[in-house]
Amino acid sequence: MARIWSKAVTFFVALLIPFATFFSSWAQPVLTRKGNSAQLIVNGKPFLVLGGELGNSSASSLEYMLPIWPKLKQMHVNTILSPVYWELMEPEEGKFDFTLIDGSILNARKNNLKIIVLWFGSWKNSMSCYAPAWVKTNQNRFPRAQKKTGDGVEILSAFSANNLSADVKAFKVLMKHIRDIDSNDQTVIMVQVENEIGMLTEAREYTAEANAAFKREVPVELMDHLQKNKAMLVPELKDRWAARGSIIKGNWEMTFGKGLETDEIFQAYYYAKYTNAVAQAGKAVYAVPMFVNAALNYKNVKPGEYPSAGPLPHLMDIWQAAAPAIDMLLPDFYNPYFRLYNDLYIRRNNPLFIPEILFGPSVEAKVFYAIGHYNAIGFSPFSVETTEKPEEEPLGKSYRILEQLAPEILQFGGTGKIDGALLDTQVRQQDIRMGTYHLSVSHYYSLGWVPEATKTEFPMAGAIFIQTGDDEFIVAGTGIVVTFTTEDKFNPIVGILQTDEGEYINGKWTRGRRMNGDQDHQGRHVQIASGEWGIQHVKLYKYK
Ligand code: DGJ
Repeated sequence: MARIWSKAVTFFVALLIPFATFFSSWAQPVLTRKGNSAQLIVNGKPFLVLGGELGNSSASSLEYMLPIWPKLKQMHVNTILSPVYWELMEPEEGKFDFTLIDGSILNARKNNLKIIVLWFGSWKNSMSCYAPAWVKTNQNRFPRAQKKTGDGVEILSAFSANNLSADVKAFKVLMKHIRDIDSNDQTVIMVQVENEIGMLTEAREYTAEANAAFKREVPVELMDHLQKNKAMLVPELKDRWAARGSIIKGNWEMTFGKGLETDEIFQAYYYAKYTNAVAQAGKAVYAVPMFVNAALNYKNVKPGEYPSAGPLPHLMDIWQAAAPAIDMLLPDFYNPYFRLYNDLYIRRNNPLFIPEILFGPSVEAKVFYAIGHYNAIGFSPFSVETTEKPEEEPLGKSYRILEQLAPEILQFGGTGKIDGALLDTQVRQQDIRMGTYHLSVSHYYSLGWVPEATKTEFPMAGAIFIQTGDDEFIVAGTGIVVTFTTEDKFNPIVGILQTDEGEYINGKWTRGRRMNGDQDHQGRHVQIASGEWGIQHVKLYKYK
C-alpha cells in the first residue's frame, strides 16, 4: 500500500513540476516578444498600460494623494507612474522608511490601479536633488561631477564607486521590499531606473577619475558590441566610428574623433554602466522589467546644452552595450516631433512605451497612434492629476475606448493586423494597408460639408484599426474618415456591408446604432466626428 502511495505521490509531483515551472516564470511581471512587438505580462496575462505620471511631488504625501485617486479612475487610467524618492526612503544611511510606497500600493489596489515605480535615486533630470542629505552633505565620500573649470555641480559623479554602491544598496532594499509585499498581487509592474539622466552643462564630467578613464582605451565590452552589431548600429554612431576606420582598439578620441560628440559617447557609456549596475542589483532581487527615459535633444543644440549622454537615439548602441539589464530606452515627449522620435526609438529592437508626454491637447490622438502604429506597450502623460475636470478630459475619452479594446489590441498586437493614424493640419491624410485592403484615413475636417472645413487649424485626430477577419475591421478613435479600396483584380470595388457603433460591456460587444445613410455617407466611408469618440465594427465586401 505504502509503495502504491509513494508511486502515486511521485506521479502527482511529476505532473505538478511543469505547472510549477510555468507559474514561477510569472512570479513577477515580464516583458515578452510577440511578433514585431513586445508585451508586458502581468499576473500571467498581457497588459496594456493606460498610464498617467504623477507630478514630481504628489506622491510624497499620502494625504495629498487622497483626492487624486478618484480623478485617475474617472480618466480611465489603469496605471500610475509614481516616484519613490531616495531622500524620503533612506533619510538616514541604512534606515529605511516605506510608508509612502506601502500607502501607494494599498491605495492603488483599492482603486484597481497598477504602479510603475520611478526610482528618483542618483539622478533626476540630470541633477541629484533626490539624493538624501547624508549623501549631499558628504562631498568627499560622494563626489560630484565637475565642469572643465573644476567647479562642482549638483550631479553625482558616475565615476564614483561610493555613489554607485549607495544607490545600489538603496535600490536593492526597495526591490526586495516590493517583492516581499507585492509579488503575489503584482501591483508594481515595471520600474524606471533614475530619471532623465544627462550631464549639464558640459558634454562629459571632468573629475580626475573621469579624465583618467577618458584617456584609457575604449572598453573591450563596447568594442565587441560594435563589431558584433556592425551592420545594424544606428547610423549616427556607425558613421562616426567608420570615419576613424572602425578600429577595434584605441582610446575614445582615436575611435570616435575629437569633439563634444565623443565626450558624450564616453559619458553615455559610464552613465549606462552605472545605471546597469543599479538595475542589475535590483533585478537580482526582483526582476521586473526596467527602463530608462530620456530628455530629448534638439537639432543644432550641443551636448551639455541639452542633458548630454542620456539614453538618446544616437546613443542607443552605447546604452544597449553597457546596460543589458535595462529593457527599454524611452523618449519623454515635450517636443512635437512624435513620429520622428518614435521612429528613432523603435530601432535596434527596442520595445516602445511612452513614459512621459506633455499633458496637453493632442495626447488623446497620439495615444491611438502609439498603440496602433508602434505597438507601444502603453502611454503616460505627465502630471495627469492637475486636471480640474477629469470626467471631461479628452485623454479619458480615448482611454475609455482603449480599455474596452485592450483584449483585441493585445490579441492582434505584433501580428501585422493592427495599425494607427495620426492627423493634423499638416498631415491630413494617411494610407494604411491591411490584408487585401487599403485604408485611406482623412481628417474629419477634410469633409467639404462640415462647418469646420474652413478652419485653418485642425485639432489632432487619431485612430486605431484592427483587422479581426479577412473583411472585418474595428475602427476606433476620434476625428477621422476612412475609405477602403483594394487591389483585387476580379472584384476591384469595395463596399461597406455594414458598420455598427457599439461598446464592449464586460468584454462583450454590444451593438448600438447601425451607421448607415448619412453616418457612412450612404456606404462610401466610415467616420467618427471630431470631438466625438467611438468604436465601430466594419464589414466590407468587394464587387466589380
Ligand atoms: C521631465 C521629467 O522627467 C519630469 O520629472 C518633469 O520634471 C518634467 N520633465 C517637466 O515638468
